[in-house]
Amino acid sequence: MVPFLRILGIETSCDETAAAVVERDAEGHARILSDVVLSQLDEHSAYGGVVPEIAARAHVEALDELIEEALMRANVSLADVDAIAATSGPGLIGGLLVGLMTGKAIAKAAGKPLYAVNHLEGHALTARLTDGLSFPYLMLLVSGGHTQLILVRGVGDYERWGTTIDDALGEAFDKTAKLLGLPYPGGPAVERMARDGNAGRFDFPRPLVGEARLDFSFSGLKTAVRQAAQEIAPLSDQDVADICASFQRAISRTLKDRIGRGLQRFKREFPSIAETPALVVAGGVAANLELRATLQGLCDKNGFRFIAPPLSLCTDNAVMIAWAGLERMAIGVAPDALDVQPRSRWPLDANAERLIGFGKRGAKA
Ligand code: KG4
Ligand code: ZN
Repeated sequence: MVPFLRILGIETSCDETAAAVVERDAEGHARILSDVVLSQLDEHSAYGGVVPEIAARAHVEALDELIEEALMRANVSLADVDAIAATSGPGLIGGLLVGLMTGKAIAKAAGKPLYAVNHLEGHALTARLTDGLSFPYLMLLVSGGHTQLILVRGVGDYERWGTTIDDALGEAFDKTAKLLGLPYPGGPAVERMARDGNAGRFDFPRPLVGEARLDFSFSGLKTAVRQAAQEIAPLSDQDVADICASFQRAISRTLKDRIGRGLQRFKREFPSIAETPALVVAGGVAANLELRATLQGLCDKNGFRFIAPPLSLCTDNAVMIAWAGLERMAIGVAPDALDVQPRSRWPLDANAERLIGFGKRGAKA
């Protein structure tokens, strides 16, 4: 029988410094004892994107206190946790070094095992913490650094079905916002503007739509937005709103096609799983209501459950890192040695082919 487990999680792979304490009971139920996240948004916003050097420094300055706070809020001491889990990739190497080294130091000093966690695995397993989902299921990760459709077969067992061949989806939102003069991060700003826009005014491209492969491409869309904006400059507020609405519509249509094919493939590969098949969404772009509605509609049509964990667990956090550590402990995976190194690139699916230009921001896989 799997014992009751409690773990401290640490996340520093991008621009959020985070620490959390999470428990797992013998039946696999999770309890989040604390969840502390410090966003570096203010530090980076002047630059219109994440600056790796600034991120690393900010992690160094904040992490110790954040870990103390996570333990305090959980009302536990280091002696009360069974292990430490720290993100060791993929992501910005400076931040990863800060988190992993801190994790190692705590593990050594407190005499606890260390789990070096893949950040993507954290995202991939979150739906098991929130919804007790069984394997296998499909996961769409859409953030500033990733756009991936992943088959989650088991802990440590992933197959990447699709990825972006150029920009990540969040990056496309951020770049579009920037060229329209909207603030960073661009996603929420574009979504806000789109509400008053005419989505039918511009017919933006929907790259790869109709192709059998399940990959994504968003850089052509961004270029089309730039051209449209230049042609009608100077832009009125209504022009910006119309561009944003048309941009979102192109993305919704693209996702409908790509993910629709993914759901069909899942049904072909798993014709007789016991539960209703499920699509899980994660990443900051999952906050977008139009995108959620598109995915919900697609799931309804194809007989899938659509699972969107609460936004705080969809965006970067340490709860998911702690949980990934717990999942590994629960199936008896040995802890990592203290000489484990961070990896800026660390695909979940080691067999997946490396596509040109993927996840440029921080070279995330
Ligand atoms: O997962 P996340 O918080 O951080 C990482 O990328 O690691 O995702 C941030 C991304 C940004 O690109 C942001 O513009 C996008 O998520 N985003 C959105 C929305 N809210 C955040 N994109 C579209 N619509 C939104 N409402
Ligand atoms: Zn992430």
